[in-house]
Amino acid sequence: MKKITVIGAGNVGATCANVIAHKDLAREVVLLDIKEGVAEGKALDIWQTSSINNYNTKVIGVTNDYLRTKGSGVIVITSGIPRKPGMSRDDLIKTNASIVKDVTEKAIKYSPDAIIIVVSNPLDVMTYAAFQAANKDSRKVFGMAGTLDTGRYRAFLSTALNVSPKDIHGLLMGGHGDTMVPLPRYTAVNGIPITELLAKDEIDKIVERTKSGGGELVNLMGTSAWYAPGAAAAQLVEAIVDDQKRIFPVCACLHGEYNLKEIYLGVPVKIGAEGIEEIIEIDLNKGEMKMLQESAASVKKVMKVLDDMKLFK
Ligand code: NAI
Ligand code: 2OP
Repeated sequence: MKKITVIGAGNVGATCANVIAHKDLAREVVLLDIKEGVAEGKALDIWQTSSINNYNTKVIGVTNDYLRTKGSGVIVITSGIPRKPGMSRDDLIKTNASIVKDVTEKAIKYSPDAIIIVVSNPLDVMTYAAFQAANKDSRKVFGMAGTLDTGRYRAFLSTALNVSPKDIHGLLMGGHGDTMVPLPRYTAVNGIPITELLAKDEIDKIVERTKSGGGELVNLMGTSAWYAPGAAAAQLVEAIVDDQKRIFPVCACLHGEYNLKEIYLGVPVKIGAEGIEEIIEIDLNKGEMKMLQESAASVKKVMKVLDDMKLFK
């Protein structure tokens, strides 16, 4: 790919640009921030690892210069404030909605064909905001949360089982918040269901820790995580750039799937060069479906806060 833009050169954005460069996913990554000099400095720092770590992707930093992002194939949006201890992701909406709207409109002007990946929180509703601001096919605007949340889930399972994280495959659906729905029934170690390997109470503990995985890190660090979020966003970029047809949970616009519509929510999808190429409808039992609907209801409440802001006429 010729160019990838990452908006927001904070913890998550800079990490994402760093991983994209290390994977050599494009000729150029443009890192953009509103704060004078930050993106330029971080981009230069990252680029100075190219000869050490052997990659060619040029990393360029700019302050609010959208012209420099022209012709990007993928735009990753990480701009906005992260949460502090005691805050929920939903507390961020008032500030982040305006930021996401603004940066999406500016970026899409120069890269009308770009696929947009939203990372800013509250994730599901910020993806919906970017979709409205971009005014394009919903399969080309989606949010990253599921790859991060399953990354946490798989890391906890790897530790509990003392097996390689590479062998753990797991699925998780719903909103990026306390109502997310990890699915032990769809989690396996190289084909062996985890229900065969761990007692129910151990699985329950891991599920609960996954749900509050973001909060655990906020409490430890005083701000939210960045290594796994940045890498998880870069993984989606890679699936697009290499047309991988990989199956990931992402925050996608639903049009009746799982009996839900007019909502952005985490579901399994196929990602390739066209963005979301298929939304996969798996069979959920009564309990799982109930949890998914509850998660959707909680996202809808936050969507209402956005709608009431009347940012989009
Ligand atoms: P950060 O504070 O380190 O970086 C945010 C950056 O956005 C700052 O450098 C700031 O100057 C920039 N920014 C603010 N307004 C801007 C604008 N109008 N144009 C361009 N840049 C602008 O925050 P961090 O830790 O990187 O988190 C970023 C966002 O990602 C937060 O909303 C956080 O909650 C969210 N997040 C989402 C995750 C997910 O799984 N979806 C995981 C981790 C974080
Ligand atoms: C996370 O899950 C806070 O959404 C951020 O780390």
